[in-house]
Amino acid sequence: MRRLPFITFEGSEGCGKSTQVQRLAARLERSGIPYLVTREPGGTPISETIRDLLQFAPHNFTMTPEAELLLFEASRSQLVREKIKPAVERGVCVIADRFFDSTTVYQGAARNLDREMVERLNVFVVGDCVPDITFVLDVDAATAESRMQQPRKADRMEQQPAEFYDRVREAYRELARRESNRVVLIDGSGNADEIETEIWKILCVRFPAFTANPQSAICNQ
Ligand code: TMP
Repeated sequence: MRRLPFITFEGSEGCGKSTQVQRLAARLERSGIPYLVTREPGGTPISETIRDLLQFAPHNFTMTPEAELLLFEASRSQLVREKIKPAVERGVCVIADRFFDSTTVYQGAARNLDREMVERLNVFVVGDCVPDITFVLDVDAATAESRMQQPRKADRMEQQPAEFYDRVREAYRELARRESNRVVLIDGSGNADEIETEIWKILCVRFPAFTANPQSAICNQ
């Protein structure tokens, strides 16, 4: 296995995954472990332009589910080839805020597009660049909603009916059951410090490269 893992974080809006991405990055920073943080959609100039189109373009409420699927895949295609793959090959730990599981869940399950087609597009776009471990932060709708109540403009993806998010949550839970070797379901309702510690413990057990690093005494914290 390669030296440092490719780690992805998934979950519905308001699950706290972006906080955990930042916290993990801060730990690696303190311990001198090389890392790269990415987010989707976005992360390269082309992918960020696609992100604007997907989330905020004035005419985007007429976007078809098929167009949405292809735009997420197009954004990822750039990100994988320009950023993620080169970093993984250099031995850098990649921490991705969303990756192909988001497409499986949002476009495949919640939008109910042809699952096999979604799967094939995912494989076409990422090839062998598959995460070593994926953390799904699981929260109920009320917790997610309370965390999202900030004074900011909701993007297009955040304006779906409640049933859409029920399907998202269930699809993530199903994914964790189906791919239990890779996907770890974390209770995201607890406090951020405890979740951070739980995630770090799992990483230290699964990836000895973290503990082997002479500077990463923080594994014991
Ligand atoms: P976020 O930046 O808050 O994670 O929001 C990204 C939004 O895009 C979120 O609603 C999930 C959605 N999304 C998909 O529907 N499919 C995808 O493949 C990806 C990466 C994100």
